[in-house]
Amino acid sequence: MRISAAQLKHYQRDGFLVLKDFVEAPACDRLRARAEQLVENFDPRGVASIFSTHEQNRLANDYFLESAGKIHFFFEEDAFLPDDTLKQSKEQSINKIGHALHDLDPVFNEFSRTHELQQLAADLGLVDPLLLQSMYIFKQPRIGGEVVCHQDSTFLYTEPQNIIGLWFALEDATLENGCLWVMAGGHELELKQRWLSGTEGMHFETYNSEPWPEDQLVPLEVTKGSLILIHGLLPHKSLANRSSRSRHAYTLHLIDANSISAPDNWLQRPADMPLRGFK
Ligand code: FE2
Repeated sequence: MRISAAQLKHYQRDGFLVLKDFVEAPACDRLRARAEQLVENFDPRGVASIFSTHEQNRLANDYFLESAGKIHFFFEEDAFLPDDTLKQSKEQSINKIGHALHDLDPVFNEFSRTHELQQLAADLGLVDPLLLQSMYIFKQPRIGGEVVCHQDSTFLYTEPQNIIGLWFALEDATLENGCLWVMAGGHELELKQRWLSGTEGMHFETYNSEPWPEDQLVPLEVTKGSLILIHGLLPHKSLANRSSRSRHAYTLHLIDANSISAPDNWLQRPADMPLRGFK
């Protein structure tokens, strides 16, 4: 077993679990270096125009939807000056890369498909685990945007709801640089809303409009190499990063092949690119 029975119990009780030193520092650094390389090779001109001009919502939506089976780059909301040029360097303007890094990039594939993670998925009760999506999150210095309180099942809905988020700290995550905040036991709450993609575009369907009890969220400061497991129904958020340090993280979402990923989820992989497990 990769986690003890006591740790599994904590995960089931709290809806999250911190596994300190799950990944060794050199593996974190390899992933960081590869992300840096991807950004270096990325020509931002076409994509920057999609995101900097509000009228181009449809293009931005298409770029987002296509990222289910591609490696796409998304900018921080505060990345642009009024004249649509970047405030900071390209390297310090990207919010995240998503959402098929784990299948398309050899370095990300290697990081995402280890024996340890396969064992962990089995410990968590996934019978036939599939890697659904991956994101490299930069949380840039000074402009790293806030991520408001949400449940991951809102965006990645399966029946039954058994999605598990793996959040790898590639640097120390602190209060200053925008660490995660979680609501212990909040995964017992029902799903608050779903983000649907359909003929009328992407929109939220809300089942409970009560605001989140944000005073019940606590910060999770973790060291580089830590892995945080996040239940799909756990309310969590992260604050903006106004510090001079980045807060790089890599996330992977797992589902069980025996559950059904909803046909109106935003994430639909191309027919020739079915989801894969750890093999
Ligand atoms: Fe999330």
